[in-house]
Amino acid sequence: MPAVVIIGGQWGDEGKGRVVDYAAKNCSIIARYSAGTNAGHTIVNDLGKFSLHLIPAGIFYSEKKCLITHGVVIDPFKLLEEISMLQDRSVDISNLIISNRAHLIMPWHKIIDELEEKRRGKNAIGTTKTGTSPAFIDKVARNGIRVADLLNKKRFTEKLNLILKDKNELITKFFGSEPLAYNEILNEYSDYATKLAPYVSDTMSIVQKADENGETILLEGAQGALLDIDSGTYPYVTSAVPASIAAGACIGVGIGPKSIKKVVGVFKSYQTRVGEGPMPTELKGETGDKLRNQGLEDGTAEYGTTTGRPRRCGWFDGVLAKYTAKLNGMDAIALTRLDTLSGFEEIKVCTSYNVNGKTVDTPPGTFEELNIAIPNYETFPGWKEDVSEARQLSDLPNNARNFVKKIQSVTTTPIGMVSVGPKREQAIIIKQLLD
Ligand code: GDP
Ligand code: IMO
Ligand code: MG
Repeated sequence: MPAVVIIGGQWGDEGKGRVVDYAAKNCSIIARYSAGTNAGHTIVNDLGKFSLHLIPAGIFYSEKKCLITHGVVIDPFKLLEEISMLQDRSVDISNLIISNRAHLIMPWHKIIDELEEKRRGKNAIGTTKTGTSPAFIDKVARNGIRVADLLNKKRFTEKLNLILKDKNELITKFFGSEPLAYNEILNEYSDYATKLAPYVSDTMSIVQKADENGETILLEGAQGALLDIDSGTYPYVTSAVPASIAAGACIGVGIGPKSIKKVVGVFKSYQTRVGEGPMPTELKGETGDKLRNQGLEDGTAEYGTTTGRPRRCGWFDGVLAKYTAKLNGMDAIALTRLDTLSGFEEIKVCTSYNVNGKTVDTPPGTFEELNIAIPNYETFPGWKEDVSEARQLSDLPNNARNFVKKIQSVTTTPIGMVSVGPKREQAIIIKQLLD
């Protein structure tokens, strides 16, 4: 039972890339198993800062296999761009393997993502407009084109011909926009096929063999549990299939649930969200701006990795955190960005909500109710010290240690790692994440 899932416990951008980069040293395979180019995972190492959207954060360990499995939807243009970027910066990517079963993001997905958002008007979801959700919707509708189809010219031509006709009807007649040209897409995607072919394989059988051999497999989640289609703040969620929760990892790589040894949840020391939707602890004034801009100097300010949008910031939401800890069966937490909280007079943690006059400690099931939930906070004294050099809990000021303990008690989950900066070594390891 050697697989470990690393998953976001909030609305994404918790620092999964950073935690995977740290934990990957103790495994033999790192697999990205869900989402698409909507994800943006940041890694800071000796070679500099990297934003990865499709390639697993383990790519910097050249001796380990890095898989993009069938649970991911792939924009070939973006993937090739990412490959070139890594090669230009001397990262060895010969260990990258792409699933033949993964679905493709096609040009119409990106256009439809834009057009649908425009049409939603004030009800817009605030998508990344990367075509990711429309590609998943087509996968479920059985209208998708997969990597294996891309490599088979005859099949690709037939599928493109058939699907593009319908998509152009939708784009022109329903949305009143310009049609896409068949030949342009065919030429563009034929070129992608040639370039991507050397990386394509059956990732499912690679993972299953490694599982049989007892190798440690790290399953890199994307997004966060609160963006999950079923368990998240619907409809302000992403459309990924498999789900953006730990259970989705089995589906996304092709192993059974009994192969999962451990689930590690990544949480920021506060809350952020990009896009629309309820966020009970959001801080709209000065304190929110301060949380967002604390990292301006070291390049970790709260602006989206994929879209550059300012992230909405607020205090740690213990009600939602306890919910996602249970939902994912988390065994341990990696708490990131403790350093970002340095310099606040006081720090708050939401421990329950008031909804329609009632105190509740589990989130209501609809976004409408979550929108009117009033957080009840416990307030803690802050700390002034810079904690980015702390490497053990005893290096932290008392108030910071008390805050960490509070996160542990509110989530009822042990904390395995406290991250105090974006770089690999900037961490306090309480218990190795993959053990
Ligand atoms: P992901 O999508 O979960 O991988 O997270 P993102 O990469 O989108 O966003 C996390 C941001 O926080 C990135 O800018 C990281 O470099 C940064 N980061 C991660 N951990 C820490 C930390 O402990 N301290 C600080 N200051 N920044 C961190
Ligand atoms: P990582 O892996 C943060 C959000 C979008 C939007 C909603 C739907 O970096 O944590 P979509 O384009 O998926 O249809 O948008 O989901 N979203 C993310 N927010 N981090 C992500 O990924 C996200 N992936 C999608 O902002 O609110
Ligand atoms: Mg991100």
